Amino acid sequence: MISRQRTCGDSLTLIANFRRSGKTRSPTTGPVYDPATPASLTPSDPESVPMSAVFNFTFVPWFRSVAPYIHKFRNQTFVVAICGEAIAAGKLPHLAQDLAMIQSMGVKIVLVHGFRPQVNEQLRAKGHEARYSHGMRITDGVALDCAQEAAGQLRYEIEAAFSQGLPNTPMAGSTVRVLSGNFITARPVGILDGVDFQHSGLVRKVDVAGISRTLDMGAMVLISPFGFSPTGEAFNLTMEEVATSVATALQADKLIFVTEIPGIRIKPDQPASDDNLIDTELPLAAAEQLLASLPSPQQPTDTAFYLQHCVKACKAGVERSHIIPFSVDGALLLEIYVHDGIGTMVVDEKLESLREATSDDVGGILQLIEPFEKDGTLVKRSRTEIERDADHYTVVEHDGVIFACAALYPYPEAKTAEMAALTVSPQSQGQGDGEKVLKRIEQRARAAGLQSIFVLTTRTMHWFIKRGFVPVDPEWLPEARKRKYNWDRKSQVLVKKLS
Ligand SMILES: CC(C)(COP(=O)(O)OP(=O)(O)OC[C@H]1O[C@@H](n2cnc3c(N)ncnc32)[C@H](O)[C@@H]1OP(=O)(O)O)[C@@H](O)C(=O)NCCC(=O)NCCS
Repeated sequence: MISRQRTCGDSLTLIANFRRSGKTRSPTTGPVYDPATPASLTPSDPESVPMSAVFNFTFVPWFRSVAPYIHKFRNQTFVVAICGEAIAAGKLPHLAQDLAMIQSMGVKIVLVHGFRPQVNEQLRAKGHEARYSHGMRITDGVALDCAQEAAGQLRYEIEAAFSQGLPNTPMAGSTVRVLSGNFITARPVGILDGVDFQHSGLVRKVDVAGISRTLDMGAMVLISPFGFSPTGEAFNLTMEEVATSVATALQADKLIFVTEIPGIRIKPDQPASDDNLIDTELPLAAAEQLLASLPSPQQPTDTAFYLQHCVKACKAGVERSHIIPFSVDGALLLEIYVHDGIGTMVVDEKLESLREATSDDVGGILQLIEPFEKDGTLVKRSRTEIERDADHYTVVEHDGVIFACAALYPYPEAKTAEMAALTVSPQSQGQGDGEKVLKRIEQRARAAGLQSIFVLTTRTMHWFIKRGFVPVDPEWLPEARKRKYNWDRKSQVLVKKLS
């Protein structure tokens, strides 16, 4: 899934400006609402509308759109892994502000930091060369000293960042208690293909009870990529392995990598372009398939580098793993609290399979949509028509039964497509299947290079409006679809922009 809610970005800018005003309440001109002409509330000409009115129109819907996520994530556990490059790039203060805000909304946070550039800097200062093999650091005695120094310095900086609370800053009033500890037991990597990794280690055990108790106290847990053997020996670990192991051991709700890459592109082997955006949702099966096709990663900017950990975590029961860029200010907030996110989310679809339909599914689709055709919710489609168009359909199947479907009919000349026959079986409505199918249809439309999707509906307007569609006049329809529009049925046309 790759769409973005651009308006949200605009409103965030406005909110930032509001905060910078330095006053808790700014004077306003009052509402500009005229009851005789309700449309007066629509800022159709931003030039002529006072700033306060524009602000109301962006802030209020934005804030309301975030509320369901706040409810959903309260008491959930997120493991957030921040690469050392983000801290080296000076992103720590903003990341700390955002994490403090997320924590204040009831999310339990385990923060794992990386320190690759910081260790390399220490090594350079000591005139010692950084050595890697198999995509891992070889930690000799000097490198271990450097890693310990770098970790100490970073912990200090992170704790300081969470201790700020100056008035008129986003940290005002925040009370984040950051606790670290010996939560990770490690074992040596040992000798691989004749290479002795010395003090480089792997996670052997995670102290789940210790971390859980600390989180339940309301503290944020901070973990450095270090572990200790039962004999007290220290091992340098990778941040990615620590974060994945902790997320898996805790059965966290999310594992989020804040990284130097923006996410995984739709065509990962090709450069970024308007036609090759970030794939915002990768089902686990697709992520595994992609991973199998990629070369073994050697450095963090390789596509498979973070993806391999996301896949591993998802396969081990962490339902959602994310890769997001540290270069975008507020990336954590955009990924967590905006419907379509900003980076790539690898998601385990569990037992159900969301997939494109084949001709074997025609019977199941007919059975599903028939009752809705009978009561007039959907227009009638013949078996022949569905057989002919089977590959236009996406279905949710569980144990051979089709529980949901929708079809995508592209109008490439108008860079749009119709989503038709969206249906969820009555016994599984209200569990998010409708939304899941919509997201997949959006993904298919984007992959086809289309800029929007539209629906025609007589009874379900609000469901679509809540999911980013806006009503338009039937005249908006592509010529070929307009010719088939049934003016007697008076269906409402709704469009969602994909970008
Ligand atoms: C519309 C439909 C596809 C939604 O599927 P779903 O899996 O139940 O949807 P989700 O679980 O993602 O969302 C459920 C939410 O949508 C709401 N909803 C369901 N039908 C709705 C409707 N007709 N209008 C507005 N909201 C509706 C539910 O009340 C629920 O709201 P909540 O989250 O605030 O509790 C499904 O209800 C359906 O198949 N309806 C009959 C066929 C139809 O109308 N298709 C659209 C043709 S254009």
